[in-house]
Amino acid sequence: MRRDPLGFLSTELDSLKQQGLYRHLRILEDEQKAKTTIDHRQVVNLSSNNYLGLTTHPRLREAALEATRRLGVGSGSVRTIAGTMDIHMELERRLAEFKRTEAVVVFQSGFAANAGTVAAVLSKEDVVVSDELNHASIIDGCRLSRATIKVFPHKDAAAARKVLESLPAAQRKLLITDGVFSMDGDLGALPELCALAEEFGCIMMVDDAHASGVFGKNGRGTVDHFGMHGRVDIQVGTLSKAMGALGGYVAGSKALIEFLYHRARPFLFSTSHPPAVAAACLAAVDVMLEEPQIIDRLWENARFFKAGLNALGFNTGLSESPITPVIVGEGARAMKLSDRLFEEGVFAQGIAFPTVARDKARVRTIVTSTHTRDELQYALDKFAAVGRELGII
Ligand SMILES: Cc1ncc(COP(=O)(O)O)c(C=O)c1O
Repeated sequence: MRRDPLGFLSTELDSLKQQGLYRHLRILEDEQKAKTTIDHRQVVNLSSNNYLGLTTHPRLREAALEATRRLGVGSGSVRTIAGTMDIHMELERRLAEFKRTEAVVVFQSGFAANAGTVAAVLSKEDVVVSDELNHASIIDGCRLSRATIKVFPHKDAAAARKVLESLPAAQRKLLITDGVFSMDGDLGALPELCALAEEFGCIMMVDDAHASGVFGKNGRGTVDHFGMHGRVDIQVGTLSKAMGALGGYVAGSKALIEFLYHRARPFLFSTSHPPAVAAACLAAVDVMLEEPQIIDRLWENARFFKAGLNALGFNTGLSESPITPVIVGEGARAMKLSDRLFEEGVFAQGIAFPTVARDKARVRTIVTSTHTRDELQYALDKFAAVGRELGII
């Protein structure tokens, strides 16, 4: 009989089950919206990144349909061969204008944008100085680049300085942070890091995945929020979260973007977006410029919900954004809280190690501009009841 060379995977899965960390994928049976149906249950959805409700916005939907009718369903090639359509170029032009940078390149996802860019810009001889909580796509990009990785404690610019002081002045260095940290909802130390980058001659890079559409004027991101225009060399944004569709982009100088056209491996070796995706993203830019009130509504909802959780006595960490974690400690406890909330009609995903530290498991909540006050109050009432039932508050 053939031995099973993948047998160790089942052992790993059994171990997850024993620890209460085994997850079934929740299945969305309706649109991605604030109140929806998941696993046959109507729930208030506090787990999407659909900050502005653009996944179902009529202008994006119509743009995608029109592009599909006019241009078909696929691009048929990678960008560097036959897969650059004029709609891709138009999106890059519009995003560059929006971000107030010379140029933009669009990738298939934010993950591809981060990983592809870091790996392309750095090589073995270089160093990357990275916040310890930076996103997995940055970490993977660093690994792929084969540069030396130096990690500094979360948001600790003084520690980043010490690392930079220990490095040879002539060595190429990338200083990198998330704009908004996806598990804690706090902001990166962008102003302090920009100052360090200037002092030590580093390339400065920010991943604004969760800041795109959320922070800055019309949702331009943390560079705009902190008034750092011109001081960040590489800005990554995502089109998959607040922008409602799919994709990632890099905004920066013309030279950076042309270099990435030649060297970023996801750009070179993976097919470009279908026209519908590019068209939806273009419509998303229009909406952010013409309907900024949806961003105001997002923030009103975020403030209301965060204040409600805090008033109930939950530990919400240091969140400064519409992402509010409810930190409970042990992984199995977070999963239990999430499961009980779900039974009560509130979907807030439990998150445990290795996504967050072992003792910092949590239920992560994200409100959107499209939640009604009644929906948010309903969720708070359920958090109160289940939190008390499990002895968390
Ligand atoms: C901080 C951060 N960066 C990048 C990404 C990747 O973005 P995308 O979903 O567009 O691949 C994510 C998404 O999970 C994220 O949270």
